[in-house]
Amino acid sequence: MEFLEIIRKKRDGGKLSREEIEFLVENYVDGNIPDYQMSAFLMAIYFNSLDTEETAHLTESMAESGDQLDLSRIEGFKVDKHSSGGVGDSVSLVLVPLVGAAGLKMGKLSGRGLGHTGGTIDKLESIPGFRVSLTEEEFLKRVERTGIAIMEHTSDLVPADQKLYELRDVTATVKSLPLIISSIMSKKIACGPDGVVLDVKTGSGAIVDSYQQAEDLASGCVGLGEEVGLNVSALITDMSQPLGSSVGNALEVREAIQVLKGEKRGDLREVTVNLTAELLLQSPKADSLEEGLEIAEGKLDSGAALEKFESLIESQNGDPRVATDPELLPESEERLEVPAPDSGYVSELNALEIGKGANLLGAGRSEKGQKIDPAVGITLNKKLGNKVEANEPLAWLHYNDREHLEEVQRMVHGAFTISGDAVEKPELVKKRLR
Ligand code: URA
Repeated sequence: MEFLEIIRKKRDGGKLSREEIEFLVENYVDGNIPDYQMSAFLMAIYFNSLDTEETAHLTESMAESGDQLDLSRIEGFKVDKHSSGGVGDSVSLVLVPLVGAAGLKMGKLSGRGLGHTGGTIDKLESIPGFRVSLTEEEFLKRVERTGIAIMEHTSDLVPADQKLYELRDVTATVKSLPLIISSIMSKKIACGPDGVVLDVKTGSGAIVDSYQQAEDLASGCVGLGEEVGLNVSALITDMSQPLGSSVGNALEVREAIQVLKGEKRGDLREVTVNLTAELLLQSPKADSLEEGLEIAEGKLDSGAALEKFESLIESQNGDPRVATDPELLPESEERLEVPAPDSGYVSELNALEIGKGANLLGAGRSEKGQKIDPAVGITLNKKLGNKVEANEPLAWLHYNDREHLEEVQRMVHGAFTISGDAVEKPELVKKRLR
């Protein structure tokens, strides 16, 4: 088989066979196909797309490109969750202990921050002592013992995605629907769960540009699940503003703890409860969405989810006292208020700008491997639809280094639009697909 012929076929809008797709994934992972040829191929997909069958072949070839997790020794209903990436989105920190408290099993592989979006692994590392790097055996033992575990994605699992994602990032081919679908679903298939829920974001902080693309992404993933025999539900949720009111690693852990304690209501709790209810509905634990929602709400209000979070921290060598005493988390030396220029209502709160601002303060990376500061970030005092008085704080910047402070101050100011008329808060869960 000639790789050049396969590129030519896709360039001219042809349909690729399973064998052709397998050939290119295997040879790319083995280093037999150079990045410049794969780049041309990715661009051909970007313009000519892949149909459902080709996308399924690509996803399966990627899922089989490395090790696969063997969860067969874990008893019970095993679930997984994936988010298309957001700002102030600490859903996983709440959802993993919550599903554990509800009696489901979850061994979650997570990543670090990417672009303007945060990553669960960076957030967990702000907990003193927490180990994110485990062997497969250590990981499975913890899921058996505690019901839940979270570890960093290893390069042995779905190496094709790791290589392709890095190449997509530098060849302007990230935003191709079949490439996003295969990237997300190959990682889920390789983890072998019984059920998966996807949180597909739409709005200024989302990876896709329009609501229609979010819906196509969600239905593409659900359809692909059906094709390969995996139970997949998807929610399309709002990311026109940051989900929670904290952006930055330790700050998001603090907020997650408030939600786990049942103290904090709002968007982060609502999205997490809805995603958990979808997983419960897939499992034998709930017969209706309403029952799933009730179970999830109950586990937050009773403190059972917080207790599970404490066990998770303990089982991964972190300081479990953090769950009840978040003061033990790192805190920035300095804090700066960003006041409102006028009175009115918040009519826009650009998630992308807030995410970029938090990264500039040191919460995220501009290049791979860069060191981050777990203590810094942005907390929001006002969100979409809130009434504001002139000079009231819109947000606070938590910082240790002044280098980008003025720039971030301007970005955060610019992220808010204050209008004279009352504004409705956007609908949070926009659609469910099963
Ligand atoms: N998340 C992923 O895992 N892959 C993509 O391509 C985009 C978002």
